[in-house]
Amino acid sequence: MHGPVADHYAVGGVLDSILKALASLGKDLDALTPHDLAPVDTFHIRGREATVELAARAGLAAGMKVLDSGCGLGGSARYLALDHGCEVTGVDLTPEYVEAATALAGRVGLADRVTFRQGSALDLPFADNGFDAVWTEHVQMNIEDKRAFYRESLRVLKPAGVLMFHDIFRGDAGDPHYPVPWADEPSISFLSTGDDVRRTLDALGAQVLDWEDTSERSLDWFRGVLAQRQESGTPALGIHLLMGEAAPAKLRNVVRNLEEKRIAVVQAVVQARAR
Ligand SMILES: C[S@@+](CC[C@H](N)C(=O)[O-])C[C@H]1O[C@@H](n2cnc3c(N)ncnc32)[C@H](O)[C@@H]1O
Repeated sequence: MHGPVADHYAVGGVLDSILKALASLGKDLDALTPHDLAPVDTFHIRGREATVELAARAGLAAGMKVLDSGCGLGGSARYLALDHGCEVTGVDLTPEYVEAATALAGRVGLADRVTFRQGSALDLPFADNGFDAVWTEHVQMNIEDKRAFYRESLRVLKPAGVLMFHDIFRGDAGDPHYPVPWADEPSISFLSTGDDVRRTLDALGAQVLDWEDTSERSLDWFRGVLAQRQESGTPALGIHLLMGEAAPAKLRNVVRNLEEKRIAVVQAVVQARAR
């Protein structure tokens, strides 16, 4: 009903499998903390570390209204609410994630500070000029129409608001090896180069304030994850719970694609026109 991208992410029973894994680690399910969820609720390269780093790139202050576009299970949204005092709304295409994100926010006592709803980043269910910041991590690689994605992100920003992203772009060595965490095969994977994205942002009147290629750090981190898994086995709680049976191949291909420079990882802050 929500299309092939939502079907890709909907593994079925994701909340149950997370709660079961937490229980197997001896966690009290009635007294969970955001820290307990961190190994699984940030479905992007370098997990919580990257979220903290991206948040530090712009002056997010208490009370700011932030939209997490393609929020997944909502780990970053909860972090921005708890650690930066922001009023966060998460929107995601995949209903299973929205339900799980809402339930997890309730379980860690953040239901009044972060809300989630189903919707598309290409047709955001929000009025113009409503947010101080739009935050997005590892979403646009599933979106073919980049211009529509960035135009829609900028539309909901207040004048001079900021778009903050942590994203995967095309490297300069050809197509990625599949499967990858965002796609089993090429039909739902749309990688642009960083230069193309910068041109698109420029054409939309946005100004890049900060842009860093974090591919090397990403590769080091991912190699560490794989080495740890080889040594100690798959942990009970981790993003493999979100990737189905092909999880090991998807994780290995991220490393291979980074090593062969088929993908690149970028963090950036972009400012909307003052209007
Ligand atoms: C790799 S996950 C990243 C989730 C989250 N941003 C994070 O970093 O933990 C990609 C997410 O993008 C969502 N997504 C993909 N295309 C979307 C669209 N057009 N609109 C909204 N969400 C979308 C998927 O449902 C999925 O939750």
